[in-house]
Amino acid sequence: MGTIILGIESSCDDTSAAVVRDRTLLSNVIAGQEVHEKYGGVVPELASRAHQQHIVPVVDTALEAAGVGRDQVDAVAFTRGPGLLGSLLVGSSFAKGFTAALGIPMIEVNHLQAHIMVHFLLAGDAVDLSPPFPFLCLLVSGGHTQLVRVESHHEMKILGRTIDDAAGEAFDKCAKLLGLPYPGGPHVDRLASEGDPGKFSFSRPRLEGFDYSFSGLKTSFLYFLRDRLKEDQHFIDKYRHDLAASLQATIVKILMDKLKRASKETGIRHVALAGGVSANSGLRQELLRVSENRGWKIYIPPMRFTTDNAAMIAITGYYRYLAGQFAPEDIVPLARIYFSEEGS
Ligand code: KG4
Ligand code: ZN
Repeated sequence: MGTIILGIESSCDDTSAAVVRDRTLLSNVIAGQEVHEKYGGVVPELASRAHQQHIVPVVDTALEAAGVGRDQVDAVAFTRGPGLLGSLLVGSSFAKGFTAALGIPMIEVNHLQAHIMVHFLLAGDAVDLSPPFPFLCLLVSGGHTQLVRVESHHEMKILGRTIDDAAGEAFDKCAKLLGLPYPGGPHVDRLASEGDPGKFSFSRPRLEGFDYSFSGLKTSFLYFLRDRLKEDQHFIDKYRHDLAASLQATIVKILMDKLKRASKETGIRHVALAGGVSANSGLRQELLRVSENRGWKIYIPPMRFTTDNAAMIAITGYYRYLAGQFAPEDIVPLARIYFSEEGS
């Protein structure tokens, strides 16, 4: 029979529901929100309203696609945070109502841990490619950038994190300066494939330890464009591809330098990527190249599991279910939560 978990994700601008039977993904439905595009970023009030409209049909579709009836669900896992409070409230309220009606438990999930846990899903051809413990995970998303030492399904230790912008934010903010739509990361990626990554150079931070910083790069990119545009107002149009390629190469170098150092210092050679920016082809190629030189075994999530999805919430919920980690009925969502430096 197996354990059936319904996962709900609503931390930002995607409403998603997924069903797993043990580790096997049965369905994963995502409704995006185009309403934010014209604002160049996510508008929290519009996001929570769109979640309210999407949540019921998205859950119904996920259950139907999985061939699972409501009465077969053993527990509901939902994103408690971090994320936008209004958006999180929609998912957590839904989980409360659904579980109360059926008399089943509710499981809180940390969105950041879930991005990492996606590596334990069995999807598609159901080949088990999950990393052994301990492994290092570079978690790169629109809101977070962390270098994590993963000890078990429940224990994760943050070795370093960004002190200002996240890697995805650096992509998105610089993309905006190039006149690209939000979110800009995928557009930069596409343009970069036809550009010269060595054409321009931008400043890289000099930070001790494993922490990251991306705000200096954004400023350096801004001033560079401003100066060049003074000389030639068509500069961006002429060099769009080279600018994207050089920007991407700089972000990838910043990310990879610390990852290489972390692997060297910890002696861990199982290395995983997670989060929206792990869709980036420059990052994937560089990880592959470095892994060949250094004898790393690497774990890259399938494209559809890099950005926000409920499959990652459901699989995290499954492991918490096995450990008996259930949420109280009066649980509230939290806009900011991190797994602690010492463990989860
Ligand atoms: O993990 P995610 O879906 O949402 C958060 O939890 O933040 O990540 C979204 C981020 C955005 O900043 C987006 O621009 C970036 O992931 N992203 C990319 C690519 N695809 C998505 N960045 C660079 N290259 C891509 N191919
Ligand atoms: Zn995310």
